[in-house]
Amino acid sequence: MSTAILGHLHASKRAEAMLEADARIRGLRRDRWIDYPRASQALLKLEGLLEMPPRARMPCMVLHGDSNIGKTLIVAKFQREHPDRFDEVKGVERRDVVGMQMPATPDQHRFYSALLFELGAPHSASASLSVLERLARELLRRIAPRMLIVDEVHHLLAGNYREQRASLNLLKFLANDLKFSIVVVGTADAPLALASDPQMISVSVRSSPSLDGEQLRTSQMSMTRRRCP
Ligand SMILES: Nc1ncnc2c1ncn2[C@@H]1O[C@H](COP(=O)(O)OP(=O)(O)OP(=O)(O)O)[C@@H](O)[C@H]1O
Ligand SMILES: [Mg+2]
Repeated sequence: MSTAILGHLHASKRAEAMLEADARIRGLRRDRWIDYPRASQALLKLEGLLEMPPRARMPCMVLHGDSNIGKTLIVAKFQREHPDRFDEVKGVERRDVVGMQMPATPDQHRFYSALLFELGAPHSASASLSVLERLARELLRRIAPRMLIVDEVHHLLAGNYREQRASLNLLKFLANDLKFSIVVVGTADAPLALASDPQMISVSVRSSPSLDGEQLRTSQMSMTRRRCP
């Protein structure tokens, strides 16, 4: 294919259009970020939260909306914008943003296990809850993240009210103890478990289920904010 007929493409994409069919198809299938105003607003909110100085009671956020609406992509983009870095002075890895998924059931043992897995910390699956908790807190203290993002938080709803409260308390405990903000992400059901908590800033994503092209751009996201007292 001649480059002359690729004039309609952005210069950075012309080389890709000259590749073999397999490579082009693979390229087309990759996830791509399409910017739209409401996602930018959510990213700004996340940025504001990340800049929050350590406080006795750290503000947290619940980002919720229907399934397939783009919540995970928003937080994935935010994580890409804040990659891990190496602290040359102290010789340790620094992660401003740690992301993980809520386990399928609200079980504290599984939560700490998933967190340790995300932190790349080898641990025994049969270790007691207190051992996992201590290990996770020690590591988090060393890595010193400024934000923990927990996706699929609607999994909390698989548990009863008591288990949901226990998981929420665990998140608040981590946020206040280690002085980072926690962002929980989940479907529209998520606030049922979380709305009652005044420490949460609630950000709701609402849009058409079809997320392509103009529909994505004109999608609506409403934001309601409740400040912690
Ligand atoms: N900003 C975006 N740019 C491009 N594609 C997007 C964007 N947001 C969403 N999409 C498309 O929508 C799909 C679903 O997005 P995503 O996985 O983030 O939804 P979700 O709200 O997290 O859903 P669930 O609640 O089921 O986890 C993506 O795989 C992607 O194809
Ligand atoms: Mg998701």
